[in-house]
Amino acid sequence: MKLDNRLMAIADLVRKDKIFADIGTDHAYLPVYLVENGITKKAIAADLRVGPLENARDAVVSYGYSEQIELRLSDGLDNFKENEAHEIAVAGMGGLLISSFIERTHWLKNENIHLILQPMTHVEELRKTLFDNKFIIDKEVVAKDGDKLYIILSCYYYSDETAYTDLDLIVGKLPHNNDDLSKEYLSKIYNKYKKKLDALKKADKECTDLEELVGELKQWQQ
Ligand SMILES: C[S@@+](CC[C@H](N)C(=O)[O-])C[C@H]1O[C@@H](n2cnc3c(N)ncnc32)[C@H](O)[C@@H]1O
Repeated sequence: MKLDNRLMAIADLVRKDKIFADIGTDHAYLPVYLVENGITKKAIAADLRVGPLENARDAVVSYGYSEQIELRLSDGLDNFKENEAHEIAVAGMGGLLISSFIERTHWLKNENIHLILQPMTHVEELRKTLFDNKFIIDKEVVAKDGDKLYIILSCYYYSDETAYTDLDLIVGKLPHNNDDLSKEYLSKIYNKYKKKLDALKKADKECTDLEELVGELKQWQQ
């Protein structure tokens, strides 16, 4: 199984020898790769719909991993038992949907559970949900496929309040990274907020807070 850069970056974060769950698996490439490479011995490939789960079944059967990879219909983690998996990936979905899974799955509040989240949208809201629910983000990785950048968050429950600023929600852990993709992602964030600021200024609207934020983000302009 050959993964694209995005899925490979997720696979690289998975801890070895834990039960792995892939929420919204679709093609099941991730669990197949992890079993094939001896990173996990047992995985649960879950999806809300039958169609994607059939795609998953095709991959699992054709690679001969029906014993190791269980297929499961589930809305988020609703159809999981407590602590059924300790490595959990949720990739290719919106940040608000991912947030809703976290908020309603109380057993994720366990320091031994590792969440690997790859939101397609609303990254800031997802970070806020994590912090407000006492999770910490220990690492963020940027991957690139074609000309699209993807962000991946590695998170654990921490049982303590996490203090954060608006800037933390916007840039996350990326300023701690020193790779070119993180720098490219940060520069995109700067451009996005600078564009907003320019539009407000043009419309003669009040924009002191945004001006301050853009001033902070300017250090990542490329
Ligand atoms: C864009 S695909 C991502 C597939 C794979 N995770 C990846 O990143 O390449 C999104 C998948 O999430 C599934 N999905 C959407 N809402 C879901 C939910 N509430 N619970 C579980 N799966 C869901 C869809 O059926 C679809 O198969």
